[in-house]
Amino acid sequence: MSLLPKPNEIHIEGLNKSYAPQAAGDVHYIIQDVNLVVKGGEFFVLLGPSGCGKSTLLSLIAGFVSKTSGQVKVGEKEVERPGQDRAVVFQQADSSLFPWLTVRENVEFGLRMKRIPAVRRKEVSDRFISLVGLKGHENKFPRELSGGMKQRVQLARVLSNDPAILLMDEPFGALDAMTRRTMQRELVNIWRDTDKTVIFVTHDIQEALLLGGRIGIMSSGPASQITHVYEVPLGYPRDLTTPEFQRLYNQIQSHFDD
Ligand SMILES: Nc1ncnc2c1ncn2[C@@H]1O[C@H](COP(=O)(O)OP(=O)(O)OP(=O)(O)O)[C@@H](O)[C@H]1O
Ligand SMILES: [Mg+2]
Repeated sequence: MSLLPKPNEIHIEGLNKSYAPQAAGDVHYIIQDVNLVVKGGEFFVLLGPSGCGKSTLLSLIAGFVSKTSGQVKVGEKEVERPGQDRAVVFQQADSSLFPWLTVRENVEFGLRMKRIPAVRRKEVSDRFISLVGLKGHENKFPRELSGGMKQRVQLARVLSNDPAILLMDEPFGALDAMTRRTMQRELVNIWRDTDKTVIFVTHDIQEALLLGGRIGIMSSGPASQITHVYEVPLGYPRDLTTPEFQRLYNQIQSHFDD
């Protein structure tokens, strides 16, 4: 048996991040001493109040921002830059879609880069465009879409690339309640069908409990940390009307009352 970490496992140790230039003796950390192991194939939710540093932590794992000190490893490798193994769904879809490409072209972009033949590209994009409920909108440009529709294009694109690790930053925040529930359900289905590691950021306790195998609670910033990690002892699909769900909800809520 190998003791090497799986390539879709994430190890974070003593991680510190300050955006300010380092002046001696005057360091303001956004996150400070974050420690976390996310196993390969796990669905991990990061839950915390607005501004605590969730997006910062996700960007550090994605390799978009550089750490101040500490360690972030994916598999055996220290994260230094973005990589094809880690796909990110951003909080704001506008920051990632190509405005000059149609919905279908946006979704197929990564496949085209990988030189996947057109017939196969179409199969994959058809599957994910219809999964996110955008059938019939394939030829529209991002400027012709609503915020929620753009967010769904982003999701379809990321899923088409079939990454080993999915980093999702409040991906459903801009969606109406009904679409949101559909997307939550589909995401769980896709995750269960594959061996993807998912790190999903939200500030919504109900969403965290509907999705996560484990939930990491981040304290409010500055110098935010992961203060508690909950195992969610519920199967899928989850029923938010059960007393057990409510009990877990209250338990997690109690971290944010003060
Ligand atoms: N590029 C940056 N330069 C300087 N400060 C930043 C930068 N990005 C984030 N910050 C600061 O870091 C802190 C954490 O921000 P971050 O976006 O990580 O929080 P968050 O938990 O994702 O919040 P939200 O739930 O509102 O999205 C905030 O105080 C923010 O002002
Ligand atoms: Mg954020």
